[in-house]
Amino acid sequence: MNKIKKIISKKNKTKIVSLTAYSKNVASILDNYCDIILVGDSLGSVLYNYKSTKEVTLNTMIEHSKSVRMGIKKSLMIVDMPHNTYRNPKEALKNAKLIMKKTKCDGVKLEGGKKIYETVKTLIKNKIPVMGHLGLLPQSDKTFKFKGKNEIERNNILRDAQLLEKAGVFSIVLECVETSLAKLVTQSLNILTIGIGASKYCDGQILVFDDLIGLNPINYRFVKKYANIRIEISKAVSNYSKEVRKNKFPNKNNSY
Ligand code: KIV
Repeated sequence: MNKIKKIISKKNKTKIVSLTAYSKNVASILDNYCDIILVGDSLGSVLYNYKSTKEVTLNTMIEHSKSVRMGIKKSLMIVDMPHNTYRNPKEALKNAKLIMKKTKCDGVKLEGGKKIYETVKTLIKNKIPVMGHLGLLPQSDKTFKFKGKNEIERNNILRDAQLLEKAGVFSIVLECVETSLAKLVTQSLNILTIGIGASKYCDGQILVFDDLIGLNPINYRFVKKYANIRIEISKAVSNYSKEVRKNKFPNKNNSY
């Protein structure tokens, strides 16, 4: 069974664990625990302090993905296609092929539903596995509010999810989607839903790694911080700076 089929076969049996990674060392730790590692274009705001993910370039995604690839042995590695790299099927195919070739990833993620239906079909016809992304779409959203609070939004998201499944995606990230809608979408699909701020009813969960470890100082309502790594880093750097100033580091032997 190939990697993608294997992961879809986990639906209704076990939850899918997913996190973002932007570099080799982090990826090599996550690889022990995750089913899917995403090189997310969230790196634009997390690492580069861009106002939005719209500023992330194809080259930046490729370079980070090459680093992540070196850290992964078993997890499925998915790379976000950045804004303006999949405006039509032809452009998407050219850029997705480049991402696959340069990064040796297992598939790409695209934001959107009906609008990218033909594009998704084209990638899949060309043997490029695709992960969808619905709900809050950071590459185009203007309000950054939870989705699925009114009937139109709910119907559109459900319709888009069914269309993406028809086009052949193996999973869909549901970002900031209201609980009952996330449940409905998950139950109505044979493929996987991976939630972020979209309830426990999704088939799996994804978080931005820097948020999970508390490296990102910003707090999001739906993010549980499993560690406060800023405190640990502060302690280490504070001790190092004290020892350097007191001429205690390096020691006489310059060996540890
Ligand atoms: O860019 C990203 O990190 C993402 C996740 C938040 C799903 O798309």
